[in-house]
Amino acid sequence: MLVLGIETSCDETAAAVVRSDGLVLSDVVHSQVSLHAPYGGVVPELASRDHLRNAAPVVQAALDRAGVGLDAVGGVAVTCRPGLSGALLVGVQLARGIAWSRGLPLVGVDHLLGHLAAPFLRWDDAPPLADPLPFVALLVSGGHTALYRVDALEAAQVHELGATRDDAAGEAFDKVAKLLGLGYPGGPIVDRLAREGDPAVVPLTRPMRARDSLELSFSGLKTQVARWIEADGLPGDDRRLRDLCAAFQGRVIDALLAKLLEAVRREGVRTVLIAGGVAANRELRARAAAACERRGLRLIVPAPRACTDNGAMIAYAGSLRLVAGEDDGAAVAVNPRTCLERRTRKGGGRR
Ligand code: KG4
Ligand code: ZN
Repeated sequence: MLVLGIETSCDETAAAVVRSDGLVLSDVVHSQVSLHAPYGGVVPELASRDHLRNAAPVVQAALDRAGVGLDAVGGVAVTCRPGLSGALLVGVQLARGIAWSRGLPLVGVDHLLGHLAAPFLRWDDAPPLADPLPFVALLVSGGHTALYRVDALEAAQVHELGATRDDAAGEAFDKVAKLLGLGYPGGPIVDRLAREGDPAVVPLTRPMRARDSLELSFSGLKTQVARWIEADGLPGDDRRLRDLCAAFQGRVIDALLAKLLEAVRREGVRTVLIAGGVAANRELRARAAAACERRGLRLIVPAPRACTDNGAMIAYAGSLRLVAGEDDGAAVAVNPRTCLERRTRKGGGRR
């Protein structure tokens, strides 16, 4: 079955045509980064309006690149949660219109389940990854940071092991870059500067050290950077800036890896997935690869295009339900929260 996937939950307007065995026939992503860059973060109203302008052309481009018309499509999958309500509504209304006018089944997909589908996608005729399940996933993006045990790609089979109590890891990168006047999105800029910095020069402490907890927190680390800037002023020379970026990035990765490896130890699984925009981070990829190799674990870090927001992951996650004959029809409803299990206490408390 060919499935049309539509994604508009945040600042990417995306659509894809994916075969139900995971082969991606097309994958079109229109990024709004330049629209939001002057504000240092996503402005919800601007996001909705830009989705409205671009959603239909992006869907058409996805069909064109796949070389198919809607008559070849067997079902439609659309992100309906979590995300910005106004942004989600644009994709859901478009998907409803397409499904209704063509008499196609329609399923709503949780965006986080979409990210967890990344290992099942393939962009060429290479064989699919052998037996990725079960795995422990570290989902690290600008909007979410959580650890999951995944036994199957369905909400009831995904268990949260721990998540951030405050900022997502990517959000922390973006906020620190903003404090340093570096531009948006901050992750790739900090990543680049950190490469030439010495992480030991600026004494930042690793967040959430308690070993018995799989919860994470990044707002305190951001505050440490803010205090350091208050006391010392903005780094006057490049060297100091690089050292600060290296220290900040190093502590974020210390925390992510410590919790990830502890989660893997507790769950007794042999496969690890790192997905989401922060999975593009060079130091995170290198240190995770070394740590997994030492422990004999299989590490899956999909290509950046599969890690960041896209329509292909939504199409594939939805295809599993469509192939089983499910159809949410007009009942697809937008919800700002995920349907996946949530166990982490937000806010302060014992770390
Ligand atoms: O998954 P994504 O494209 O969008 C969502 O947030 O859903 O992730 C974007 C986030 C941003 O916060 C960005 O700063 C971060 O991923 N990011 C990075 C890197 N590339 C993107 N963070 C650290 N290092 C990178 N190389
Ligand atoms: Zn995402």
